[in-house]
Amino acid sequence: MIKIKGKKLKLFNLLVLMFIIIVFLFYLITFFALLFSNKYEDSFIVKKENYKIENNVTFTNYFKTCVIKENYKISADDEMIKKALYNNLQEDGFKVLDNTLVRLVKENKSCKKVKDNYAKTHSDNYVSFKLNGKSTINLNDETKYDDEYVTLLINNKQSDNVKINSNLNNNRIGTYLITYKAKISDDYNEYLYRKVIVKKDTIKKVNKEPVIEVKDGLTYVDGILIVNKKYPLPKDYDPKVNKEALEALKSMQADAKALNLDLTLISGYRSYKDQEILHQKYVLKDGEEIANTYSAKPGYSEHQTGLAFDVGSTDRSFSDTIEAKWIEENAHLYGFIVRYPRDKMNITGYIYEPWHVRYLGVDTATKVKESKLTLEEYLNIN
Ligand code: DAL
Ligand code: ZN
Repeated sequence: MIKIKGKKLKLFNLLVLMFIIIVFLFYLITFFALLFSNKYEDSFIVKKENYKIENNVTFTNYFKTCVIKENYKISADDEMIKKALYNNLQEDGFKVLDNTLVRLVKENKSCKKVKDNYAKTHSDNYVSFKLNGKSTINLNDETKYDDEYVTLLINNKQSDNVKINSNLNNNRIGTYLITYKAKISDDYNEYLYRKVIVKKDTIKKVNKEPVIEVKDGLTYVDGILIVNKKYPLPKDYDPKVNKEALEALKSMQADAKALNLDLTLISGYRSYKDQEILHQKYVLKDGEEIANTYSAKPGYSEHQTGLAFDVGSTDRSFSDTIEAKWIEENAHLYGFIVRYPRDKMNITGYIYEPWHVRYLGVDTATKVKESKLTLEEYLNIN
């Protein structure tokens, strides 16, 4: 118990009183802070060849500090460029909030000065940052990439404060981005992007004649065992399942399972005899001509190598499943390729079989996948 003017005050009442005083002081401080704060607004547009930024900025004085709140709205037709710009701006301290990039910067100056300086560094008169040459370059194996660089003028003076970042690999088919980052001030960077599309890879250009070796009736092209409608296997070739390939398959199945994807093994190693029975069954069902588009004749099946597996389901509807898409995107990471891709029947001789994977080892499988070619085309034996 506490006594005030002879009255007894309970501890609870004292706590309530303290709470009221704290709340009152908080409102009082906020009131004065707002009373002495100044708020300014401004807007800027940065327009580059492949994107645009609309920037609405507010400057608010809290006592001697000016808080700058930048709101960037970005528009870009190209998703790759948009993503890169988002990443770069996040590195610069922006946070993504409802499709807007927002950043708070504090300066110990009056907002009036900060605002004027901001307007100056963000004006077109002060900064001129442009790409030299085209914003999209198409490269094929006759053209060599020669970066034409950029032109940066700050306050009408040429500046070389530009950093280039690039993931370009002329030796691989793909779309690449060159990023040019110009440092305008401590808090302000501008970005330019150039897209480089490598249409044919230079590795493929070398396109040397394939080295074809036949050993014990097995055909190897550049060291890779090949089985297709042209290169069969001997009737007595009976290696059983390849251990390395089986381990890779198990690892692929486990990773898929963790994502709730079912890559159950439907069929793996098949002997000459197994294939004969299977093929005969399909011939009776669909006739020879149709059966040959989805089933290999005995001696011509990759399943006899012990390096091929059918997973998930061999029903044609499998092509629309997440499993099929996952295989297409990830099988190479385990050393497999989808051996009979979509729309390649003229080359492989078989319909699209999203379930049939062939083990090649991670390196070769990755190269074949990145080439976007069938194994026949990749080995130049089509
Ligand atoms: N389904 C493939 C082509 C095979 O029978 O080996
Ligand atoms: Zn198969």
